[in-house]
Parts: sequence; C-alpha cells; structure tokens
Amino acid sequence: MEKRVYLDNAATTYVSGEVLNEMLPCFNALYGNSSSLHSFGREAQNIVDRARDRVAKAINAEKSNEIYFTGSGSEANNWAIKGLARANRSKGNHIIVSSIEHDSILESCKELEKEGFEVTYLSVDETGLVSLAELLHYIKPETILISVMSVNNEVGTIQNIKAFAKTAHENGIIFHTDAVQAIGALKMDVQDMEIDAMTMSAHKIYGPKGVGALYLKNGIRIDSLINGGNQERGRRGGTTNVPGIAGFGKAIEIAVRDLSVNQQKLKAIRQYFLDKVEEQIPYVHLNGHPHQKIQGTVNLSFELIEGESILMLLDLEGIAVSTGSACTSGSLEPSHVLKAMGISNELAQGSIRFSFGKSTTKSDIDYVVEKLANVVEKLRAISPLTKAGRGKKGE
Ligand SMILES: Cc1ncc(COP(=O)(O)O)c(C=O)c1O
Repeated sequence: MEKRVYLDNAATTYVSGEVLNEMLPCFNALYGNSSSLHSFGREAQNIVDRARDRVAKAINAEKSNEIYFTGSGSEANNWAIKGLARANRSKGNHIIVSSIEHDSILESCKELEKEGFEVTYLSVDETGLVSLAELLHYIKPETILISVMSVNNEVGTIQNIKAFAKTAHENGIIFHTDAVQAIGALKMDVQDMEIDAMTMSAHKIYGPKGVGALYLKNGIRIDSLINGGNQERGRRGGTTNVPGIAGFGKAIEIAVRDLSVNQQKLKAIRQYFLDKVEEQIPYVHLNGHPHQKIQGTVNLSFELIEGESILMLLDLEGIAVSTGSACTSGSLEPSHVLKAMGISNELAQGSIRFSFGKSTTKSDIDYVVEKLANVVEKLRAISPLTKAGRGKKGE
C-alpha cells in the first residue's frame, strides 16, 4: 500500500492534539467523581462546568445550564424525540420530521408510533431540501414537535432551519434540530435561529467518541432520560464522563474558532476533487444541493457499478470512503436519503460519500482520484450493465 487516505470524516474524525491535551489529565491526575463533595470531586466538577460553558458559548445558548451532556448524538436524538413528545403529550400527539433524518430520529419516531403518536415524514426534493410549504401544510392543532436536521450526513444539504423554527413557534410547536453534521461547518446560533432543542456530537469535530449533548432551552418540558442520579440536573443519571466532556468542550471551542479557515480550505479541496473527477471519470452524478451544502461532504453516484465494490477496492488501496451513511453500509438496501431524493435504485446503489477533513491535502486527492479512476474503469469493464451496452466508457 503506497499511502493511506481517510475521506470518511463525516463518519468520525481523529482526536486533535489540543483536545487530547485537555482530556489527558482527567484520566489520572484529575480523576475525581464530579458529583463528590470533596476537593477531588470539585476539581472534576470545575472541568465539567468549563466544558458546559464552552458548548453554550459555541452555540450562543443563553445559559450554560441549557446544555445536557449525553453518551452520543444518537442518545441525544432519542432523548429529544421521545422525551419532548412524551412530556408534551397532553397538548397533542402529532410529530413532524423529515424523511432523511438519521436513524436515531426515525427509529425513535417508530417507537412513538407504537405508543399512539402520529408521525408525518416530510418529503425532500431532488437536492435533499425540505419544503416550508409542505411543513405548513401538515401542521395541525395536535402538532407538538417538529424535528428537521440542520445538515444531512449523506449528501451535505443544509436545511432552512431558521424559517422552520419560526414557523413552528408561530404555531406554538417545539422545534428540534439534529446539528451533528452542522457544528464546525456552519454558524449555529440557537437564539438567533430560535431553536428549542439541538443535538450535537463530539467525534465529528475532532473530539472523542461516546459523548454528545442536547441543548434544551430553559422552560421546555422534557421527560428524564435516565433515572437514578442527580447528574445533568437529574435528567440523565450516570457518573459523568469527565474526560469525554472536557474533550467535547475543547473540540467545539476550536470548531467555532477555526470555522471560516477550515471551510475555506475544504471549499478549495472540494473543488479540486470535483474538477479532477470530472476530468478523469465519465458517467458520474453529484448528489445534493448545488449551493446550500456544507463543503466537507461530496456524494457521487457512479453509473453501472455498485458503491460497495468501489469502497472495497479503494480500501485495498488504503483509501477510506463510505457508501451512504456508515450505519447503513453493509446492507444492500439503497440509502433512504437518496431514495427520498428520487434517485433511482441503480444510481443510489452506485453512490459513494467522500468526506474531507481539516488535514486532507491536494496530494491526498491526487492519489484518491488516480485510484478511483482505475477502480471505476475496472468495475465497469466487468459490470453486466456495461455488457448490456449501456453507457460504455467513451460512448
Ligand atoms: C446527522 C447525524 N445525527 C446523529 C448521528 C449520531 O451521532 P453519534 O455517532 O454520536 O451517535 C450522526 C452520526 O453518524 C449523524 O451524522
């Protein structure tokens, strides 16, 4: 293997040096339980307090106590959907979400349907956008919760969150957004955007795995997630993950501090990649929105071949990419996101997500496109679809 290139930063990122330095003392020197009353505990509590302040500041929450740490973004999404729905059931039983949400939202909705909630799944257009008109159409007096993700994890489309939140509030409805893929890519200001609840995760922004957070505006009612502990204001019991939380606080501080520098860099890398692909590989489609998109994620469909095969052959060359979301790879079902965007099963199955990170270089891209062009040519040469005479290279 000549080289290893990681283009799966939407699945997870490495822990940056600054973040690691923030975490390391919490494993040994500062190992207290943050709930303990003695000095060891107070030291740990101070670390957690500082991290909570950093997360609150990064998203412009009014108060730090509006941040609740969780064990992942998936946990925060489960909590938001189930906890908000159940706590507000006396007002109604109808929920609206988009059809391209992460499975942790969609599966939580399925659970609620078993409890008698009614869920509307909004469609998206061919670019992955949810329509405000459709959202308005489905709002009814029983609607208590709307949840639309800020940025889609498979295609990178950015939704009109501020407009959706405003509409929700004009109708007395709580608005939640999954911002796991948005933090570090977009400015997320919960006050300006009128967001009531927002999900975040550390490991997508050069922080550790296994730590997430839910922003919950003070005054919004939610059921407790884990009973039996006073942690997280009694709403999420369990001994506090001090190193993880310390790392999350630092990671989000850096993500916001470096946002524009990183985005400029990613924009250049993205364009460089797309130009090279266009130059060297025919019959490729770019999925997602042409403008309303984050820079780090590129989703391409390769005609006549399967994404899984591309992924495996690239892996042999030391290149890491993903087919759709990491959670659905391994299954032959085409991605629910691409399906919802109206992309044919054939093209959806031939899709690959390339997600760049702050360390991706032009020389990485040169290597990837060279190998990708070879892999695609090789697979097309043996594809039964090519043999059937459809769209051979050069035709
Ligand atoms: C949009 C979105 N939401 C939620 C999650 C889940 O976050 P976590 O991996 O922290 O559970 C992910 C991660 O893949 C994601 O991309």
